[in-house]
Amino acid sequence: MPRSAVAISLPPAEFNAVRDNLAEAGYEAIPVESADELEQLLTDRADVNCAILDGETDFDRTLEMYAVLRDGDRNVPALMLMPPRALGRMGLGGRADARDEYFTRPYSAESLRWRVEAMLIRVENVPAEAATHGTLLSRGSSEAPTAEVATQSADSAALEAAAPPRQGMIGGAARKRGRILIVFNPKGGVGKTTISINTGSAMQMHKGQRVLLVDCDTITGHIAASLGLQQPRTLANAWRDNAITGMFESVEQIASIHSSGIGVLVMAESPLHTEILEPQRVADAIMAARDSYDWIILDMHPDYGPLNQALFDQADTILVPVTPDVPCIRAAVQFRELAVELEIRDRLVMVINRANSGVAAGDVERVVAIPAIARIRSAGMLFVRAADEGKSAVERFPTAKVVGDIDILADRLINAAEPGSTAPRSSYPSRNRITDTFRGLFDRIATQVS
Ligand SMILES: Nc1ncnc2c1ncn2[C@@H]1O[C@H](COP(=O)(O)OP(=O)(O)O)[C@@H](O)[C@H]1O
Ligand SMILES: [Mg+2]
Repeated sequence: MPRSAVAISLPPAEFNAVRDNLAEAGYEAIPVESADELEQLLTDRADVNCAILDGETDFDRTLEMYAVLRDGDRNVPALMLMPPRALGRMGLGGRADARDEYFTRPYSAESLRWRVEAMLIRVENVPAEAATHGTLLSRGSSEAPTAEVATQSADSAALEAAAPPRQGMIGGAARKRGRILIVFNPKGGVGKTTISINTGSAMQMHKGQRVLLVDCDTITGHIAASLGLQQPRTLANAWRDNAITGMFESVEQIASIHSSGIGVLVMAESPLHTEILEPQRVADAIMAARDSYDWIILDMHPDYGPLNQALFDQADTILVPVTPDVPCIRAAVQFRELAVELEIRDRLVMVINRANSGVAAGDVERVVAIPAIARIRSAGMLFVRAADEGKSAVERFPTAKVVGDIDILADRLINAAEPGSTAPRSSYPSRNRITDTFRGLFDRIATQVS
């Protein structure tokens, strides 16, 4: 089968670099300058299966081009260049097409090649019937070209059961509320913080989700340090100030924004004087933030104290990282047993971290008896090196195989949370309506950013 072509709207120098990289992968790059040119191209050729659009240089033109991609029965996925600040504020509110992806300047042409390949593999593997109906197949089966772990035994059904969708009704229309994802294992050093940071980053940077990452570890938490945030405003400080001024600040206002676009909320800078962080008040504040984010990821301290119990109660999904060694497997089994008492057993899913070392992954699954939804390979010093620069590995090493693993994990979590994701769409909005929707959306972003 001849490989797909990619329509590209980028400034000439960038186009040339991207074209050369795509050519190496056997993809034809076609420059387009306007919505009309794109329309003509898509009418003439059926092999244009992806478009790269520049939402930073000329936003209005990009909107028109994006609408062309979704005109009528068309559903061509877009890889969109966005200003970093806009990405952080992107209020897609769950309305992003899960097949679109986003990137920011500066980027490397090589990393785009990798992203485009992953997107096209998905498009090309969708049966023709499903593709014309815009079906989002469960993307666990094809996935990124780097995914040697693609055969992992993801138990999507179990994940769906583990994470029943929560819907809110606002203004008469169903509006998705953010989901609470807890990352927890009672053992330290198993990858909770690493997985929280990078899964959040992948969701925000690659999947168009608005993500809030919360460092709930008031004792050993190091999310702010790993992400290079100097003395971020903390929840404890904000609440102390609020008590004096009488002003209310939402979690969204208190959170810092990282270069990856994710919001970061730190509970306290020191384990002392945290009385103000009354567990139920913290849990309530986090629940309230669900209206502002698609995902709220909680990186937890390994204990079963009152704060953690209040948070467990509110979680939609509890992701348990397990490394393939006996102490960690024991800790996970202990947690699974306790989860029955806490009545959260059915929300647990496992990710096997450093999956290519120690006990075989299949044995880990059998013993721990929590559905494994993804595997993450060992990546040497890569996470440490990214943290040294205050970045997630997703930002710093976009082509690394371990980042491919993390993308798969993010996909699995998002797909399981999307109740309609495997069903064909019932109708297509008109080109004008799409333009209007996105214009409204980006107008809001622009106001927030400026
Ligand atoms: N898949 C992996 N490959 C390489 N290093 C990893 C991996 N997962 C975690 N690490 C490293 O292991 C250490 C502990 O991870 P961390 O996320 O802090 O664990 P936890 O939050 O559970 O205590 C960190 O130095 C981190 O960089
Ligand atoms: Mg940690």
